[in-house]
Amino acid sequence: MIRPRPVASALLLFSLVVESSFSAINPDWFPKQDMLTIGVYYYPEAWPESQWARDMANIRKLGMEYVHMGEFAWYYMEPSEGKFNFDWLEKNVELAHQNGLKVILCTPSATPPIWLEESHPEILMVDAQGRTMQHGSREQADWSSPVYRDYVTKIDTELAKRFGTDPRVWGWQIDNELSHYGRRYSYSKAATQRFRDWLREKYGTVDKLNQAWGGAFWSTNYQNFDQIQIPNTDTLVADPSPHWVLDFDRWFANEAAGYISMQATALRRYSKNQWITTNFMSMHEDVDPSLSQKSLDVFTWTIYPVHGDLGEGPLGFRLGSAEQMSFMHDFMRSFDGLSGPLELQPGEVNWGETNPWPLPGAIHMWLLRAFGAGARMVCTYRYRQPLYGSELYHKGLAETDGVTPSPGGREYAQAMSDILELRKHYKPSAREPQAYAARRTAFLIAFDNRWDISNHKQTVRWDTVGHWMRYYRALKSVEAPIDVLTPDRDFSNHPFVVAPAYQLVDSDLIRRFTSYVQAGGHLILTCRTGQKDMQGHLWEGPWAMPILPLIGARIPFYDDLPVGVNGHVSSGGKTYAWGTWGDILQPDNGTEVLATYADQFYAGKPAAITRKLGKGSVTYIGVDTLDGELERSLIHRVYDAAGASPLNLDPNFVVDWRDGFWVATNFASQTEHIPASPRAQILVGQRDVPPGGATVWQEP
Ligand code: GAL
Repeated sequence: MIRPRPVASALLLFSLVVESSFSAINPDWFPKQDMLTIGVYYYPEAWPESQWARDMANIRKLGMEYVHMGEFAWYYMEPSEGKFNFDWLEKNVELAHQNGLKVILCTPSATPPIWLEESHPEILMVDAQGRTMQHGSREQADWSSPVYRDYVTKIDTELAKRFGTDPRVWGWQIDNELSHYGRRYSYSKAATQRFRDWLREKYGTVDKLNQAWGGAFWSTNYQNFDQIQIPNTDTLVADPSPHWVLDFDRWFANEAAGYISMQATALRRYSKNQWITTNFMSMHEDVDPSLSQKSLDVFTWTIYPVHGDLGEGPLGFRLGSAEQMSFMHDFMRSFDGLSGPLELQPGEVNWGETNPWPLPGAIHMWLLRAFGAGARMVCTYRYRQPLYGSELYHKGLAETDGVTPSPGGREYAQAMSDILELRKHYKPSAREPQAYAARRTAFLIAFDNRWDISNHKQTVRWDTVGHWMRYYRALKSVEAPIDVLTPDRDFSNHPFVVAPAYQLVDSDLIRRFTSYVQAGGHLILTCRTGQKDMQGHLWEGPWAMPILPLIGARIPFYDDLPVGVNGHVSSGGKTYAWGTWGDILQPDNGTEVLATYADQFYAGKPAAITRKLGKGSVTYIGVDTLDGELERSLIHRVYDAAGASPLNLDPNFVVDWRDGFWVATNFASQTEHIPASPRAQILVGQRDVPPGGATVWQEP
C-alpha cells in the first residue's frame, strides 16, 4: 500500500529555519581528572530479555564506564508507523544505571524499517546505474529525500522527548558512519534537485556557473539550473569538468553536514545537558567533519586498524598503522578538545579482505595511544559477538557463550584498570613541557584540496593521504605534537605549520601565511601547493603564482614518471628515489637549496628550498619521494635550524605528552626504548617497549 506523503510537521519547519546550535560544553560530561573513559556497544534487541541484567553486570565487571545502545534499532523503536516503543530501551537504561554505567543512545537513521520503505520507496537511494537500493542491509536511505528527513526527525523527536532530560543518559550518537559505503552517492531525483538548489544559491545565474565550470571547454554550457545532473562516471563518455565534480563533492559534504545538523536540532529541542556526536569514518574522503562544528559537542570516529595487510614491517598487519591512528586523534581533537574513537576494534573483524588477529597487546596499545593523544573517550564495537547476521565472525568483548571475556575483552579491561591507576597520578597543574611545546605543529588540510586532486590526479601514482602521511610520520619522528587543522582554524600560535599538497589557495590564506612567517612562524609547503584558485582554475600567470613571493622561487615546470620508473634526488650526501611528483625549482637570490635532482634532463636543479622571511622561514619541498625519508630528514633539519631540538624516533614508535604523562606506543616490529630520564617514574609498561607494547611515565 502506498501511503500519501505526510505533511511537513511543524517540527520539520522548525528544523529548516533554525540553525542547530552547539550547546555549551558542560565540564561534568568529561571531568578533566578522569582523562579517558572507556565503554562498549550493546544491542539489547539482539538478546533475550532474560540475559540483559547479566550482560550489563558483566560489562561493568570488565571495568567499562558506559554503554552505547539503540544504534540500528528503528524497527524495535517504531514497529509500525507512529507506534513508538521505547520500553525495552528504558529497561536497559535502568539496568545500565544500576550497574553504574552511563548511557549513550543513538538515532536509528542508518537502518530504516521495512514498513517505511514499503510505504515510501522514494526514501531509498538510487545508485549510479539508476537502481533503487534494497532492504536487508543498512545505509540504504537517501538523506536528500524530504520524506525520509521527515521520518527521521519524527523518531529523533520521540527519542528526545522520552530520554532527553533523563539524567541516566549521557549523550547521543547521530546515525552511523554517515556514508553510503561502496555506493558513495545517491543519484536520486531528490538528490539531483537539492544539488541544483545548492548551485542556484551559490551562483545566482547559470552564466556564472558556466564560467566557474569552464563551459567554453567542449561546449559544456548549461542554459538553466534544471539541466544539471549529478556527475556520473557510468554515463559520461570522457572526463567531466573537474570544476563540476568539485562542486558536487562540496555539495555532498554539505548535504551530509545538513543532515547531521537537522538531527542535532531535532534532538536538542527536547534534550537538555546531553552531548551530541556522530561517528565519522576514519580518513573518509566524502564527509568533512569540520562542517559539523556547530552541530556537534563531541567529535568521534570509527577505526579498525587490523583488517588485512596494513601497517609497516613484518608485524604491521597485526599492529595497524601508527600514523593513520594518530592522525585521526590529532584531527578530531582539534575542534573542541572533546574527542575519541567511538568504535575501536575489539579483536578480529569480518569485513576485511583478510581478517588477521591483532597482535596480543596491540588492542591495549591502541587504547593507551588514545590516552596519549588526548582522547576523552573510547568505545568499542561491540560487547557480545553476534551469533547471527553478517558480522558473526566479528569478535566482541565476550566470546560466543556471552559471558567469557575474549582476549580483546581482557585487553580492554586491562587498559581500563591502567587508566584508573593513572587517574591517581593526575596533577591538574601539569604544564606541557617547554621543549615539546616548542615543536607544536599545525598540519593544515582542506577537503577541497583532497577532492580537487582526486578529480585530476595527473598521475596514477599520486596518493594524497599517502603524501600527507609521509609528512605526518616525519613530524612524529621529531616528536612534534600535531594539531590537524582545517583552514577555518587559527594556526598563528603554532611554532610550525605544515601544509602538504595544499592545491587550492585564496588571497586570504596567502595573507595569513605571510603574516604568520613575518611574525616568526616556520612554514613548510610541499608540491602541488598553490596551483589553483578555489574554483580549481589555474592562475593566469606563472605556475603557482600566489606562493612564489613566499617560497622565494619560481616553479618553471614539474614532472611525474611512469609506473616502474624512478628518478633520484640528492640531499646531504644521500640519494632518495621518487616517481610521483617533482617540481623543478628556480630559486631567487638568497633562497637556499636543500635537495637537487640527481638524474633526468634536469639533473642538478633544485627540488627543495628554504629561506628566511621576516622573523620566520619558509621551506618548499617540491618532490614526493617513495619512502618519505627525504621529507623526514628535511623536517628534522627545519626543526633543528629553528632551535626546536627535534628527536629522531622511529616513526612507528609514537611518543606523546598528555596531562603530565608521557605515553609511548610501539607500532614498530622491533623493541624500542623510551626517551625518558633515568629518574622517570614508570607507571605502565617498561623502558623497553616490545612491538604492540605501551609505556606511560612521569618525569619528576
Ligand atoms: C563499522 C560500523 C559498525 C560495524 C563495524 C564492524 O564500520 O560502523 O556498525 O559494522 O564496522 O567492524
